[in-house]
Amino acid sequence: MSPRGTRILSGVQPSGKLHLGNYFGAIRQHIALQEEGECFFFIADYHALTTIQDRRQLAENVRAVALDYLALGLDPERTAFFRQSDVPEVTELAWILSTVTGMGLLERAHSYKDKVARGITPSAGLFFYPVLMAADILIYRSNLVPVGQDQVQHIEMTRDMAGSFNQVYGRVFPLPESRLDRAPNVPGTDGKKMSKSYGNTIEIFAEGKTLKDSVMRIVTDSSPVEAPKDPEKDNLFALFSLFADESEKKALAARYRAGGLGYGEVKKLLLAEIDTRFAEARARRKELERHPSLVETALRRGAERAGAEARETMRVVREAVGLR
Ligand code: TRP
Repeated sequence: MSPRGTRILSGVQPSGKLHLGNYFGAIRQHIALQEEGECFFFIADYHALTTIQDRRQLAENVRAVALDYLALGLDPERTAFFRQSDVPEVTELAWILSTVTGMGLLERAHSYKDKVARGITPSAGLFFYPVLMAADILIYRSNLVPVGQDQVQHIEMTRDMAGSFNQVYGRVFPLPESRLDRAPNVPGTDGKKMSKSYGNTIEIFAEGKTLKDSVMRIVTDSSPVEAPKDPEKDNLFALFSLFADESEKKALAARYRAGGLGYGEVKKLLLAEIDTRFAEARARRKELERHPSLVETALRRGAERAGAEARETMRVVREAVGLR
């Protein structure tokens, strides 16, 4: 470990409204990691260009994800929180890394192959995605990268690229480790995994009627109120469990098994849990929306910190490869 302590880095795709799956799968861990080391978190807007080609939508998504993270507890005093594109040096490093990266390595990327298999005609940018991601990680000489399972291979590819670079030019980059976000089961309103692409999400910042409507939409079986029910087989119970502590969970499970508990009542309990859990964050988000300059200042300051690091790394890299 380097003397400055563990540097933790992750990128967040600005992909629209965040939902409970995002919260329990990633955001909550990101916020908690601020206690464990020096965090760099950025909004991956360069990467987003591989899927969003509408300038207003991109800007809106970036704004929304910044508000969401700040409202949910990202502390910009402690964590460098910034837009990827505010540190354009990362694209230079991506280019340099590409020259020590085999085509074969990129051709083996699952996420690329999956997209092609789904019928997407890939841009060169989509193919190049893992190189930019490696540059994101290496330019801040990160040690730990919290990601979901779908990104683990990208971290392995990053280690490969760092290893090839170090072998050719001398040891410049530490090899980063991935840290798997232990994602609990977060079912969507139809019982499948909660995901934007299934249209079954419950948004973190929904409130009032919108929130109520999403909770009421949750599919349950058709057993009558009187019937004893198995909590382990119920989506509502799975969702409730994410919010409740052990004793609340036990108490509710006992009521399921006893019979006489209707799903309508569980929906009300769940609604109250969601509503309370995010009440403070909702208020903070509204406050930040009224003061966009606070968000902008936070991102600018994050970019300054990140930029200073990136420029220092690039000085070493350029010297190592013989560019000036
Ligand atoms: N590819 C990541 C995702 O889709 C986002 C990302 C971009 C990232 N660059 C990164 C994550 C660097 C970790 C480190 O979620």
